[in-house]
Amino acid sequence: MNKVIEEYQREFAHFFGAERAFGFWKGRVALYALLRALDVNQGDEVILPGYTCVMNVNPIKYVGAKPVYVDIEPDTFNMNANLLEEKITSKTKVIVAQHTYGYPCEMDAIMDIAQSKGISVIEDCCLALGSKYKGKLAGTFGRAGYFSFQWNKPYTTGLGGMVITSERKLTEQIESLLADEMRPPPSWEVFMLRAQLIIYRLLVYPRTTALAQNVFRYLTRKGAVVGSSSTSEYEPVKADDFFKGMSTVQARSGIRQLGKIEANISHRKKMTQLYDELLAGRGWRSNKYDMDLVEPVLVRYPVRITEKRKALAQAAKAGVELGSWFECPLHPIETPLTSYDYEIGMCPEADKASREVVNLPLHPRANERTAVKTVKFITGFTQI
Ligand SMILES: Cc1ncc(COP(=O)(O)O)c(C=O)c1O
Repeated sequence: MNKVIEEYQREFAHFFGAERAFGFWKGRVALYALLRALDVNQGDEVILPGYTCVMNVNPIKYVGAKPVYVDIEPDTFNMNANLLEEKITSKTKVIVAQHTYGYPCEMDAIMDIAQSKGISVIEDCCLALGSKYKGKLAGTFGRAGYFSFQWNKPYTTGLGGMVITSERKLTEQIESLLADEMRPPPSWEVFMLRAQLIIYRLLVYPRTTALAQNVFRYLTRKGAVVGSSSTSEYEPVKADDFFKGMSTVQARSGIRQLGKIEANISHRKKMTQLYDELLAGRGWRSNKYDMDLVEPVLVRYPVRITEKRKALAQAAKAGVELGSWFECPLHPIETPLTSYDYEIGMCPEADKASREVVNLPLHPRANERTAVKTVKFITGFTQI
């Protein structure tokens, strides 16, 4: 194993007080490795919220299991723990607790239900790095947690994924799977990823994000860049080269980003508070959650509005960085829902949130000016 990747894994595990961390090419690959290591197979069921990214459902389909969706709780956008038990069957093998936007799930309730039924919990921390529930870091409650370092995530290494766990048996199972099946990413992909990281650092700022995203999606469709999702990933069929490890480029960038994690977290908290205040100043309600219970570190600041489509189109023209996810219960809008066992109406709150929610930037390149401009723009619409 490469020394830089080993160092990144060690430091990442250390941040969480976890025994081990394993790096991957993407977050979805990390989930795939976990499902395989947990022996999830054909005919098994995996429960997750009906408000997620389709790339998070693909690994479940790749192992032959059935995704079962639980509707969300409208304030936190997380799996509604009151609706969880009725979705459990004799085939349920794993519950994926996704900490949406950075709001921690109701971990006590989820863990109690899972433990009483002998079901494994894994935590999707792709949008939540540093969030705490009852003072304990998200990612350290279940048997394992997994993370993403894709462009929109708490910090980015271009693409990237990580698993953390403190369980010896699971660690051994992951190690043996990696030894047997995981391949390093091809050098041309790593070369392109490095070039893209440089372009990102130089060019992508809140004002330019919409334009950069459109150019990037176009180039990804043409196969000219290593995008986070190729068109073939909008169907549940695994590509031969899916199971790839992390590259040194990603690990090096990850070590740098992890070194700045406390500043990143405190920036996100300050920006969240600033949005709360600026929105309140314009008569908008801010997001509701139990401050005594959770300490969220948000990846983006969600707001519900009427006319989501119109707002996104106008924001792109006005140079305002407005995020669209999740555009549908299994983001993005192009997802053929029935191929993923989802039907509109199955999770009414998730359907509604995807019609209404846009999100505001909190990343290290967004500052007070960004917040003022974004709030001025968004309050031109009507809050729901
Ligand atoms: C909640 C969630 N989980 C998992 C993933 C997968 O991460 P990655 O893009 O690194 O594969 C994503 C986004 O893509 C996501 O939004």
